[in-house]
Amino acid sequence: MCYVRSYLVFSSNDQTKRLALMIKQPLSANTPRLMGDLIPDSAATPKRQFIQVCQYRSCRRFQSAAVLAAFKQYAGADLMVSASSCLGQCGSGPTVRVAPDNVWYCRVLPQDVATVIEQHIHQGKPVKRLLHPRFHPDYQRLLDRLQS
Ligand code: FES
Repeated sequence: MCYVRSYLVFSSNDQTKRLALMIKQPLSANTPRLMGDLIPDSAATPKRQFIQVCQYRSCRRFQSAAVLAAFKQYAGADLMVSASSCLGQCGSGPTVRVAPDNVWYCRVLPQDVATVIEQHIHQGKPVKRLLHPRFHPDYQRLLDRLQS
C-alpha cells in the first residue's frame, strides 16, 4: 500500500516557533497523485538511516575522526555516514546525530560505535548512556516516539 505524506508549516509573527505537521493518509482514488509525494509502505521498505559525525574543532580533539572512520565501516545501502561541520554541541563532543530518527549522541568514542550500530540501527533502541541529555531527557518518551 502507498501513502501520501504532506507537510503543513504554521508560523506567526508573534512566535518564532514553527510547527510542522505531518499527515499520513492511505492513497485513494481521491488523493492527489504527485510523483514526489508517493512513498511506499514502510513495512515493505527497509528504513534508511543517516549518521552525521561532527568533525569540527572541539569534537576533533576527542577522536571524532576515529569515530567517523568506525561508523564508515558499517555504511551501506541502508546506512549513510557522513562528516559534518559543527552541530552546535561543542562542549559534549564528539557529537553524533542519527536521522531521520533525530537522535543525538554525545561523547561518543570509537569503541561505542559497534553498540550504536547494533542497538540503534539494527534493533531500533537508542543507546541510553550515550544520549545527549539536552535533546533526550526522557528515554521512554524517545522510545515511544521512535516506535509510533
Ligand atoms: S565542534 Fe562538534 S558539535 Fe561543535
